[in-house]
Amino acid sequence: MEILAVQGKAALRGELKIQGSKNAVLPMLAASLLHKGVTELTNVPRIWDVFCMIHILEELGAKVTFQGHCLRVDASFADGVRVSKEYGGKSRSSVLMLGALLARNREACLGLPGGCSIGERPVDLHQRAMEALGAETYVEEDMICAAAKNGLTGAVIRFPFPSVGATENALLAAVGAEGTSLLCGCAREPEIRDLCYFLKNMGAGIEGIGSSRLIVRGGMPLHDSSFAVNGDRIAAGTCLAAVAAAGGDICLNGVEAKDLIGMWEAFLRMGCRLKAEPGRILCSADERPAAIEELVTAPYPGFPTDMQSLFLAALCRGKGVSRVRETIFENRFEIVPELCRMGACIGEEDGLVKVVGQEKLSGAYVEAKDLRGGAALAVAALGAEGETRIAGLSHIRRGYEDLPGDLAGLGVKARVIQEEKHDEKRKEIQG
Ligand code: EPZ
Repeated sequence: MEILAVQGKAALRGELKIQGSKNAVLPMLAASLLHKGVTELTNVPRIWDVFCMIHILEELGAKVTFQGHCLRVDASFADGVRVSKEYGGKSRSSVLMLGALLARNREACLGLPGGCSIGERPVDLHQRAMEALGAETYVEEDMICAAAKNGLTGAVIRFPFPSVGATENALLAAVGAEGTSLLCGCAREPEIRDLCYFLKNMGAGIEGIGSSRLIVRGGMPLHDSSFAVNGDRIAAGTCLAAVAAAGGDICLNGVEAKDLIGMWEAFLRMGCRLKAEPGRILCSADERPAAIEELVTAPYPGFPTDMQSLFLAALCRGKGVSRVRETIFENRFEIVPELCRMGACIGEEDGLVKVVGQEKLSGAYVEAKDLRGGAALAVAALGAEGETRIAGLSHIRRGYEDLPGDLAGLGVKARVIQEEKHDEKRKEIQG
């Protein structure tokens, strides 16, 4: 079994180029179906979720090349409408094909991954948005199907909750609909802003970019385009959380501080010293963070749910008591028992997690249960004495191109090893 082994009590030092944004590039790949021609993306991270989307695009008839970090999609003959459970069932982002397929081929039938470790992940808001544009939709077991035999027609779409994925699906469908659409209550994450600029770069008509009200002039002629993906704000936040957890002094290149709204102030509350420069972020911190009285996740520009586990990991060594409340997903505290294995004094109480910060954490055999939880265990490992061995690398590889290499590049001993006795050791040491 492949294990990430991280040697603890290690401050981070040096510079790192941040990978392209996973959550920006995935909807852009879906959007490439809207144009019967060539779309090129640069600064694309080589992560599992991108390779999964490439398989889905090829299954639909697109021709895709991915060399280095440059990805080229020729969707001239991508006339398929079905995404098998083999790939659709493996990645959450497959649902993002719904809007583009309906707009282009007037039909879609996608395997759904269903719930995942952080929550049920329903798609009702996606369905409502497609129905507002004239489609019929239904969900059966682990498939979502939709059809719009007369094509999609511009409409008013109101989101009761700023769902990122539903906003993205509605955007793609509205670009391919006849007439103008007004989207109200949209999510405002930077990845949606970037998707809007990507679509405009293809020829789409979109106003209100960055706000919760988007006006989309559908049916505009689209053309070949090339677009550079911005740096991944959560990958950057992961490195900042590592410095908060173990101390150090780093510079992150290829990311804009403005995209870290919501988490920036929380890092300052942990005692991080941050400096924003064009295209880069400087961060230094002492070897133990301050506690945060209460941290609550919220839709952008609030504190991002994707940073919640990473802050929990750092706050395990906080100087005092911290409380973290998760309001976006119903089951995003799976990391708590794993942090307990490392000696953290942490527990769930009525929908929030209370952490009594400890000076000392110890390396342990732990297991990643989801993408950000896996990265958070590496963050906790940096502040712990001794070596921590993290199983579940496949979760981490979904969203981080080379987390071990990134940490090693910042002066930390992190490497992938083979360890056949991981589970046995987990049982033996801590039952
Ligand atoms: C996106 O997921 C991100 N994934 C997630 O990042 C991120 O945590 C999430 O947005 C919130 O910011 C990608 O962009 C690929 P939502 P998404 O729709 O679109 C409920 C990571 O680690 N909901 O905003 O699935 C849902 O159950 C991943 O990179 C409905 O009820 O998030 C959840 O409780 C994890 N009905 C809440 O809304 C729906 O139809 C937020 O979901 C859709 C969502």
